[in-house]
Amino acid sequence: MSGDHTPLEHYLTGCRERCEQALERLLPAARVQPRRLHEAMRYATLGGGKRVRPVLTYAAGRALGIDPPQLDGAACAVELIHAYSLIHDDLPAMDDDRLRRGRPTCHIAFDEATAILAGDALQTQAFKVLCEDQALRVSSRTRLEMIRSLALASGSRGMAGGQAIDLAAVGRQLDLAQLENMHIHKTGALIRASVRLGALAADAPESPELHRLDHYAKCIGLAFQVQDDILDVESDTTTLGKTQGKDQAQEKPTYPALLGLSEAKRMALSLREEALESLSAFDEGAEPLRWLADYIVARSH
Ligand code: IPE
Ligand code: IPE
Ligand code: MG
Ligand code: MG
Ligand code: MG
Repeated sequence: MSGDHTPLEHYLTGCRERCEQALERLLPAARVQPRRLHEAMRYATLGGGKRVRPVLTYAAGRALGIDPPQLDGAACAVELIHAYSLIHDDLPAMDDDRLRRGRPTCHIAFDEATAILAGDALQTQAFKVLCEDQALRVSSRTRLEMIRSLALASGSRGMAGGQAIDLAAVGRQLDLAQLENMHIHKTGALIRASVRLGALAADAPESPELHRLDHYAKCIGLAFQVQDDILDVESDTTTLGKTQGKDQAQEKPTYPALLGLSEAKRMALSLREEALESLSAFDEGAEPLRWLADYIVARSH
């Protein structure tokens, strides 16, 4: 069997191919004016990335019997928000990083003003995609709920708020509850929205399945950032595609800094267990979500 792909690898490849094609289609062409802005948007979005959030959207939809074509728009919308958040996260005023996905960050490859605008424009493009998506077969009410969920997860009560907490915490000691609050917002909120949007495609916003999937997403969303913190300590710049050791260099509060590496790893594993428990009532349609829970805490980049 050696050399064969695992079911997870097979699933990841399929979802990533779908997502790449859909993003390519949904981003403005580089030849359209203003060209430099469109080039920067495409550079930051199409230049690699694990596509974890879109894959989660597809996997949540699959757990509820939704076919992938109906999920392309939602999957891309979350990835567009994510790409924007990375551009801004890397800016000199924030984490001041020069390397992302193994290439120069957007503000290095272009310039700071263009990078800011590319982030802005990717964010609004995400909402345009959700509004216009013709393949999505849900009521207008559910579509509005999808738009609202993504807005909430991205804004001051979600990712942007978490980033504000992160920046205010530099050089400070946070306690465990404060650290968890920061991670839940800066990273967890968008991961949770990725699952929620996939689940909402089933057009049953009040279903018990949606609540179970949401609990799964809460757990893996936090686990994802715990693992990101661990990798910043343990991995290397080539594998990560971003500069290793930045958290310590910039005195960021992280799980390994607060709890030590082995306790941080234990925490990630226990979050994975809790995530898997929330899926116990689901049949084999939820297998990809189970594989992804494993992947999120075992990944090397
Ligand atoms: C990095 O996210 C930023 C965090 C929220 C931790 P990813 O690890 O998903 O980055 P890409 O998209 O694969 O580059
Ligand atoms: C980023 O967290 C969270 C975002 C909202 C982008 P990090 O600052 O730890 O992400 P990396 O390590 O630069 O990818
Ligand atoms: Mg950051
Ligand atoms: Mg960063
Ligand atoms: Mg990090």
